[in-house]
Amino acid sequence: MDCTKAANKRSLPNDAGDGLEGKLKKAYHGNNYMKEDSDGCTSICFGLKEEVGILARTLKLFEERGVNLTHIESRPSKRIPGSYEFLVTSEAPPTELEDTLDSLKDRVTYHQILSRSHDTKDAEIPWFPRKIKDLDEFANHILNAGGNLESDHPGFTDPVYRERRKHFADIAYKYRHGEPIPRVTYTEIEIKTWNTIFTNLSDLFKTHACQEFNYVFPLLMENCGYQPDNIPQLEDVSNFLKDCTGFTLRPVAGLLSSRDFLAGLAFRVFHSTQYIRHPSKPMFTPEPDVCHELLGHVPLFADPKFAQFSQEIGLLSLGAPDEYIQKLATCYWFTVEFGLCRQNGQVKAYGAALLSSFGELKYCLSDEPEIRPFDPEKTAVTDYPVTKFQPIYYLAESFEDAKEKLRTWTKKIERPFSVRYNPYTQSVEVLDQKESLKDMVTSIKGELSILTEALDKIH
Ligand SMILES: [Fe+2]
Repeated sequence: MDCTKAANKRSLPNDAGDGLEGKLKKAYHGNNYMKEDSDGCTSICFGLKEEVGILARTLKLFEERGVNLTHIESRPSKRIPGSYEFLVTSEAPPTELEDTLDSLKDRVTYHQILSRSHDTKDAEIPWFPRKIKDLDEFANHILNAGGNLESDHPGFTDPVYRERRKHFADIAYKYRHGEPIPRVTYTEIEIKTWNTIFTNLSDLFKTHACQEFNYVFPLLMENCGYQPDNIPQLEDVSNFLKDCTGFTLRPVAGLLSSRDFLAGLAFRVFHSTQYIRHPSKPMFTPEPDVCHELLGHVPLFADPKFAQFSQEIGLLSLGAPDEYIQKLATCYWFTVEFGLCRQNGQVKAYGAALLSSFGELKYCLSDEPEIRPFDPEKTAVTDYPVTKFQPIYYLAESFEDAKEKLRTWTKKIERPFSVRYNPYTQSVEVLDQKESLKDMVTSIKGELSILTEALDKIH
């Protein structure tokens, strides 16, 4: 049985580090670049003209005016490819920096003022990734990985397998957002393992998988190399998903904590392993492997409604208390991993752990297990076994219905702020300030206007 329960059961404290950008709020108003009501310290992001020594001369501007910089950071510029941009932070409020900023304008190609608020509400918001590249923080937060296999792991005594696992772990550790996922040449033994699983499962999908899965699977065969004798490359699959729903894959070395894993979903990022299970037990793996990810998870991430449902779980997890993360992870377990749904009067599987396990896929639709209606309040506190087939499954009427139920349930959870995903900037916005709410209203107004116009034309 494939399982990610170890990840669900273990949750790291929310101390992943302090992300500067995650705490910054945009306060740039065209030429009037000072935020009038800001009472916090100030960060300035700027690009420099191409001149020898210009960075040193620019920083001198701050020193000459007695401005103490508490943080300096450089990064490749997205605005001007090939150049760098700089982020500097001062404890001084923007009103004390007017003179410096006037001087700065002569030396930079662009600049932007970012202000960090000191109000108590912001201080109450724990760190969580605000930008998609913040997910790089998780690369080393692995609960187990590489060659460090448990003594009961099928590959524990196989040095060749352990070396191979280390190779895959290194790829994931080095990976950074925006890079193509390194392609892997799988060995003959690995392809044989994939072949066994692929062949056994693909026949069963037709009768046991939900219709969304069966719609996407042939497309994956056509576009991403899903074949019995070929293990698809994560990069190709990620690009396919991006075209379908905006979901992307990023390689991961092993199990992430529930908090980190769910946070990835908020950005429509699925952390995917790239290694394959040990060949001695092709029908069993004690942890997620590439077969579980590609055969179980990937097809449904190409479905818009399921993608939305998955992202919703991720967004709800951001900054949530540990107890709540545990409940959300349990809901994830009984839906995304082991979910059943009703379609045309029949029960079908949509959970990835079911769809990647030949034995449990047959068992879950037999008369043996108990099937209960999906109800987040009850589902979230249901205990479940790890090493055997599930005695209980939860049945969703549809992805839409499951999403609505989840939304209703989460209103009871204490989280003193709301979040929203901005797909244009691939960032999470905290809706705790008038400005962010106004931005959201403007965005909704734009969408409504398009909707109204489209409806008029249809009528
Ligand atoms: Fe999984």
